[in-house]
Amino acid sequence: MPELKMPANLPDPIINENAKIVLQRRYQRKDTEGVVYETVKELFWRVASAIAAEEAKYERSTVKPAKLARDFYDLMTSYRFLPNSPTLMNAGTDLGQLAACFVLPVADDIEGIFDAVKHAAMIHKSGGGTGFAFSRLRAKDSVVGSTGGVASGPLSFLKIFNCATEQIKQGGTRRGANMGILRIDHPDIMEFIKAKERDGELNNFNLSVGLTEAFMQAVNEKADYNLIAPNTGEAVGTLNARDVFNILVQKAWESGDPGIVFLDRINRDNPTPALGEIESTNPCGEQPLLPYEACNLGSINLGLCFAKGRNGKDSEIDWDELKRIIHLSVRFLDNVIDASVYPLDQITEMVGKNRKIGLGVMGWADLLYQLQIPYNSQTAVDMAERVMKFVQAESRSASKQLATERGQFPAYPESTFGKANLGPYRNATTTTIAPTGTLSIIAGCSSGVEPLFALSFVRNVMDNDKLVETNPYFEAALNSADAYSGKLMEEIAKVGSIKKMDHLPEHLRHVYVTSMDIEPIWHLKMQAAFQKYTDNAVSKTVNLPNSATKEDIWDIYWKAYEYGCKGVTVYRDGSKTSQVLCTGDGD
Ligand code: CDP
Repeated sequence: MPELKMPANLPDPIINENAKIVLQRRYQRKDTEGVVYETVKELFWRVASAIAAEEAKYERSTVKPAKLARDFYDLMTSYRFLPNSPTLMNAGTDLGQLAACFVLPVADDIEGIFDAVKHAAMIHKSGGGTGFAFSRLRAKDSVVGSTGGVASGPLSFLKIFNCATEQIKQGGTRRGANMGILRIDHPDIMEFIKAKERDGELNNFNLSVGLTEAFMQAVNEKADYNLIAPNTGEAVGTLNARDVFNILVQKAWESGDPGIVFLDRINRDNPTPALGEIESTNPCGEQPLLPYEACNLGSINLGLCFAKGRNGKDSEIDWDELKRIIHLSVRFLDNVIDASVYPLDQITEMVGKNRKIGLGVMGWADLLYQLQIPYNSQTAVDMAERVMKFVQAESRSASKQLATERGQFPAYPESTFGKANLGPYRNATTTTIAPTGTLSIIAGCSSGVEPLFALSFVRNVMDNDKLVETNPYFEAALNSADAYSGKLMEEIAKVGSIKKMDHLPEHLRHVYVTSMDIEPIWHLKMQAAFQKYTDNAVSKTVNLPNSATKEDIWDIYWKAYEYGCKGVTVYRDGSKTSQVLCTGDGD
């Protein structure tokens, strides 16, 4: 690819204090002694130019790489859009692995299992996260043909994956993240459900139980269901679905683990069933993928798509600006696929067939604050649908445009799109809502589609650095209500929320809500609203107060199913001493 020279008049990016620390630690290039030799400006230019350079290979492209590099640079340094961390870290470098999400198959033999351990290690080294289904592994104590001995089962192998991950620091800076999934009808399911009972156990894994429609129906009917030996396909036992569901709920109440995913629903939305069945997601659950598939993500900062109406009234979303950002971001993410070097040939091949990208949003809570809409309201849920419908429609239209310039994704003819004759697309999926744990720090916005955890708080990042943060939109609102004072900020930083601060104006307490002020049902309704218009899945945690009961969690799990979510993660305040990965510190 031709190297694109940095223009002399390229403006310096404005960087917030938290971002400075994060970028320096993880993203800016360092020499062998660990000394940073790349400025933030050079970092963003490295990424912008490497991704734009891909444009040159498309003869029918209507955009000049140099102009595109500048547009990408402006897009990122205005924090309107950021690609996932591996793209920021590795674009334009020798490593060149740019995707955050991978799924690897785990075959039912020793060679296959250890291949997966090795491949995961290679992916973690490049900053990607891995998901695995352990459902194909034969149950504990079943016979091993080659030796006549007995199998150790999925759980014992999970521990090996966990251990291997522990020893590999991603890209020299962060530990790998994993998702482990087991089907509800696997004979070892009870052991799996209880696997994280002890704090710290399998700490490099998020675990999710793969639920099926048949199982959910059995829960509803209080019926028994069969456990199936994966190696023989035979029923080897039965459990009562309602009892198992109750234990799942109990464990989630105790520790937040395991989560649940609805496998049939994920496969209903599998755009290329002819290429295989989806058995797992990436570590944080937002990206279901086929075995050996990878996907790169990127997120639009909705907080910056706010258009103030005249006299402060009739404020709205700047839809034209959002559309412009979506189209540019889709081109960016499609180019990332070409620019990325994958650690395995099988992955290169699979990614090449589907060309999945995952464009999502962050800064949602910031946008709601500006629109003066409480997160826990039907107005906010309706707005979520409206925004995501727009993002999905425009990202698909951008993908169609790219297909005319570059051709459709190769698996298109055998895809559900192809079969329905929906017209050629460049990408088998275009939308995913990521947690944006680190991206939101860089952009200085609220993460993903989550409400704010606190209006003002002290954030622990990497190696116990402490960063104090106050939401800027809240601070502005306090100022304009003439309510700002240093003493008040101290008070708020202690509790995070202003819900109980009667001395503050009612409208502020109504709009500036935080995750703990929001009833669980609104968390779920919001997730479902975004899911409705998201091709892949939505990263979202349903936060519950410590006082939440098991019945509350039962209700959430069941409603997640009824509302059409693809999975659900709950977290009851104080139920776990150390939170797993992807909670905001990216560690
Ligand atoms: O903000 P950033 O791009 O760093 O990541 P994220 O949106 O919080 O997480 C997106 C995905 O990146 C996760 O679902 C994982 O697949 C991967 N990830 C990881 O592998 N290791 C981490 N420590 C964080 C994220």
